[in-house]
Amino acid sequence: MLDKIQKLILGTVQFGLDYGINNPAGKPREAEVEKILVRAYESGIKCLDTAEAYGTAHRIIGNFHKKYPDIRFDIITKIPGNFHGSITTKIESYLKELNVDSLKGFLFHSFESYQLNKDKIVKLSALKAQGQIESIGVSVYTNLEIDKILQDEFIDIIQLPFNLLDNINLRGEMLSKINDSGKIVHTRSAFLQGLFFVESDCDNKIARCLKEELDYLKKVAIGNSISMQKLAINYCLQQPLIQNVLIGVDNLDQLNQNLSDANYLLKSNLINQIDKIMVKQVDLLNPSLWN
Ligand SMILES: NC(=O)c1ccc[n+]([C@@H]2O[C@H](COP(=O)([O-])OP(=O)(O)OC[C@H]3O[C@@H](n4cnc5c(N)ncnc54)[C@H](OP(=O)(O)O)[C@@H]3O)[C@@H](O)[C@H]2O)c1
Repeated sequence: MLDKIQKLILGTVQFGLDYGINNPAGKPREAEVEKILVRAYESGIKCLDTAEAYGTAHRIIGNFHKKYPDIRFDIITKIPGNFHGSITTKIESYLKELNVDSLKGFLFHSFESYQLNKDKIVKLSALKAQGQIESIGVSVYTNLEIDKILQDEFIDIIQLPFNLLDNINLRGEMLSKINDSGKIVHTRSAFLQGLFFVESDCDNKIARCLKEELDYLKKVAIGNSISMQKLAINYCLQQPLIQNVLIGVDNLDQLNQNLSDANYLLKSNLINQIDKIMVKQVDLLNPSLWN
């Protein structure tokens, strides 16, 4: 079984676009991203999650690989929905831009993108057989979307949101189904884009709607003398049905904190307390619906 740090995948939307709900500074400077990537690699995080849609992220990763020839991250990237043209040419352009010889994973960036580009899957499988791609996958939001992908033998990876509120109560059954189908589970939104760290009486509309649940989480964290960061990252990392956990950071301090927190072991009674939380308005847990 992978140790917890090896289970981590570093997300890169924060590097290419202004992102995160408590992030007035916006995307970090390239020099800061360099420090984050060196630290991540040295600490055992060998894989990056990126996408064509993440602004300058591809270019920044490519520059990093050029500047640090001894460091080569495994790269998972994603194709947008409105893609037209040759999938072979597209992947060749990604490999060149990212400065890698192959992709660890090639994902459809949404369920819509998967449905719109199903005709490309046979070609993708051929590129997989040639070694340009290791795994094909889809990034989704809902359990309904997962159900519609489970039967597709060409899909190896399903990336879905999972965290203290979008938890085992809401996702447990689906995680079992994905594992039973032999596919790999990648989760994101471990920190709900930073929502776990805001004051529940702040002017954030979603935080106010989830005040009851956020206050309960704070009570659990204080009651167990651990930080919300430690609770959030380890609740995801200690799930046996999840193979990899994506996290995003805006700066080196956040990465260092998450790396040290990941060595903490949550007791099972604490995990059970979180498993019991049942958010009724599940749309509140879907950041793509927040605006
Ligand atoms: N549809 C998709 O495929 C999709 C969608 C979203 C994301 N992703 C991927 O998932 C990755 C992670 O993004 P996410 O949305 O899932 O974010 P997340 O990991 O839930 O939250 C990341 C945010 O949490 C805050 N944070 C992180 N560490 C912290 C710490 N130690 N202390 C305090 N705050 C901390 C930062 O925001 P603040 O500083 O603002 O608090 C950071 O931007 C992205 O980079 C991207 O690669 C994919």
